[in-house]
Amino acid sequence: MDYRPALDDGALGRAAVAVLDANWTGQVTLPAPGLYPHQWNLDSTLVAAGLAARHDRAVRARAELAGLLDAQWRDGMLPHIVFRSGRSDGYFPGPSVWRSDECPDAPPGIATSGLTQPPLQPYVAWRIWRRRPCAETAAFVRRVWPRLAAQHRYLTDSRDLGGGGLAAIVHPWESGMDDSPAWDRPLAALPFPEAGNAHLDRYVWLATRYRDAGYRAGYLRDEHPFAVEDPLFNGAWLASTWAMTRLAEVAGADAKPYEEAAERIREALIERLWHDGRGFLALDLRAGGPIPVGTVGGFAPLLDPGLPTDVVDALIDLLESPRFMGTTGYPVPSCEVRAAEFDRTRYWRGPSWVSANWLVCQGALTHGRAPLAAGVTAATLRLVRQAGFRECFDPFDGSGLGCRDFSCSAALTLDLLTPMAV
Ligand code: GLC
Repeated sequence: MDYRPALDDGALGRAAVAVLDANWTGQVTLPAPGLYPHQWNLDSTLVAAGLAARHDRAVRARAELAGLLDAQWRDGMLPHIVFRSGRSDGYFPGPSVWRSDECPDAPPGIATSGLTQPPLQPYVAWRIWRRRPCAETAAFVRRVWPRLAAQHRYLTDSRDLGGGGLAAIVHPWESGMDDSPAWDRPLAALPFPEAGNAHLDRYVWLATRYRDAGYRAGYLRDEHPFAVEDPLFNGAWLASTWAMTRLAEVAGADAKPYEEAAERIREALIERLWHDGRGFLALDLRAGGPIPVGTVGGFAPLLDPGLPTDVVDALIDLLESPRFMGTTGYPVPSCEVRAAEFDRTRYWRGPSWVSANWLVCQGALTHGRAPLAAGVTAATLRLVRQAGFRECFDPFDGSGLGCRDFSCSAALTLDLLTPMAV
């Protein structure tokens, strides 16, 4: 779409809806035309959150999330890419790399990847309910509840690879922050055959090892060479577990197991990933130690209303310090600015993302930090007003980077235009 800055909120909202309508296939919303021609787990989930902010798109918000959940594997895993039929567009790695059709746990008739992404679905389902607590939404919650519960079981049973109560990611693509410098070390340590050492090859090699092991949980636990406890993934899981305690009432289910689980995850997060003065850092289970580069993902635990006040205060100090927002003109650099790996223009190695800013904003609102949330919101809306619904932005000068007409940026603009504390 040709981009012209939309100066007032109404025009900005209409421009966002136009992008989302153009990326809607009739079944799902593609993350962006061309570059991402299938359904992505995280993107669809965030799109659902954004659509729910508009009364005239409430039905589609529910359809988007329910459609993603329909691709869930029998063991509860929610795949990170769902290849919708009839679109043989050469996307790599496509269905012939993942070969989900050969795996008995995969859903019949739908090709998917074999990895997952941050489990934000219950959190977003809760937002959808809070935006419109009506009979249709209640029916939607009852319909998706068993799938949300199965996902929670999957993470608990199959992904606690460190045995400490958190869920491990087994590939950078599971993080939602694919190229983050946090993965540099664990990727460099892979027993990867050196010939053809392109960066992408390590990603594909790692994915195909898991595939060749039949996507088995036992293999992940005992043999898989990449296992990281990431604060974004686990912060999302904690927020979602908390959301399950609320959704349970709507679904007519028991909240107790989720209350207990939220407590366990919170304690494990603080015990395993929290570092005084550094915030939340990812833990490399294979090398056995923290990955010493702070990223915007470290603020995701703010989504948890039960996070202890001293941790909240320390995290917000870090966020506003020169390591993050205090140096750049725009919130929130995806990597701490002083890190040697920081790069203001490279994908997840520095640029600001609307999705990450949105998470930070929700975290601030969760803890009653209204002025911080308002500041991040205003600056994020300034980014999209100036540069359009780009994939990400230079955090110093605000110029747009990556693809255009990016669904997540459009959808979360809608949400930011109509703030809601959960
Ligand atoms: C990239 C991002 C990931 C996103 C995907 C589709 O892989 O890192 O977060 O889900 O693109 O937009």
